[in-house]
Amino acid sequence: MARIKYGIFILLQVVARVAAWPVSGDSSTTSPPSSPSSGSDPTPGYLQVILESRFKLGPTKALIDTWQNHWITSADFDNMKSLGFNLVRVPFSYRNFKWSNGSYINEIDAFSRLDWAVAQAKSRGMYLVLDFHVWEGQIGQGTSAVHPQCSARAEVFVIFSQPGAAGQAQRDLASAIWSLVAEHYKGEPTIAAYDVMNEPTGSPGDILQIDMYKAIRPYDPDRIIIMESVSANPVSYGWTNVMYSFHEYDMEGSNFNNNKKTYQSEVGGYIDQSNSFSIPSYVGEFMTTGRTLTWMLQQMDTSKIWWSGWTYTTVSQGNWGLYNFGSSMDVDVSTDSYATIMSKWSNMGAKSVTSIASLYKAGAMA
Ligand SMILES: *[C@@H]1O[C@H](CO)[C@@H](O)[C@H](O)[C@H]1NC(C)=O
Repeated sequence: MARIKYGIFILLQVVARVAAWPVSGDSSTTSPPSSPSSGSDPTPGYLQVILESRFKLGPTKALIDTWQNHWITSADFDNMKSLGFNLVRVPFSYRNFKWSNGSYINEIDAFSRLDWAVAQAKSRGMYLVLDFHVWEGQIGQGTSAVHPQCSARAEVFVIFSQPGAAGQAQRDLASAIWSLVAEHYKGEPTIAAYDVMNEPTGSPGDILQIDMYKAIRPYDPDRIIIMESVSANPVSYGWTNVMYSFHEYDMEGSNFNNNKKTYQSEVGGYIDQSNSFSIPSYVGEFMTTGRTLTWMLQQMDTSKIWWSGWTYTTVSQGNWGLYNFGSSMDVDVSTDSYATIMSKWSNMGAKSVTSIASLYKAGAMA
């Protein structure tokens, strides 16, 4: 569980390494995200909802564009490259493609930031994983705002994975976005893979994953498709070029021996499962520090699996990021003026580096 998506709108993420390149053919890619959340309220999109209620849709988009313009820059891509990373996992939200009123944003605007990230990666010989991170009905998760199709918060969280009309409606909305993305990036080799849905709850019969696969494949027959929360043999669904993914957040403690045992049973179990299906494995998110991090990177390298750590930049979240912005960019979205928010997000201040940056560099360069 990606625990809290520390940071705010867009997180964008990761740092990582492609250990192997198991698939030939073309691929496609995407880019940035936009989905507000904060440490105290991890609801993706919630800050955006508050801003929209105060400033309306267009002006709010201008604020978020400003935030994104400064959150990850071309200098960051230079830095990722110098750290030895060859893969960046880029979370996106349905809000990259749609206004909150449900209308689609025009294609050029909708893809501009993802296209930018693709170009940044491409010019440096890096790859992207496009990760669908925030689905439409998820916007109310964890807040008092509940999606109209759901009667309770818990239901909001699981509905995407469940049989029934409300869940199918959400899967259809997400499928439409995947089809757009797959069509847009067909033939784009910078995109290593599509991560169909971040941290879904278990889906009976894997109906969620089956739908996303069907949405992508007609447009992009070769791209690697990343599935999470699946234990079935991909052959049983007729899937080709899939990779199974797992997120590891049970190794945050300082007890090295316990962490090793956890890795062997949890990550090791996933690798064994993928190996039994003859497909690659991807630890798409994880967080650990110190000696455990160094050891974990070595293990993943030895097993030749893909990985991407959580995460490149945070706001004052310690070792959850390689880099942290400080309080100078903090805003109160409920009370600060539009001009104040715009100003602070245009001037985020300097980032500090944390202890995990050099450990990641040593691991990625190994
Ligand atoms: C939704 O909002 C956008 C941006 O303000 C606007 O262009 C569009 O016309 C709206 N759609 C509807 C159905 O109101």
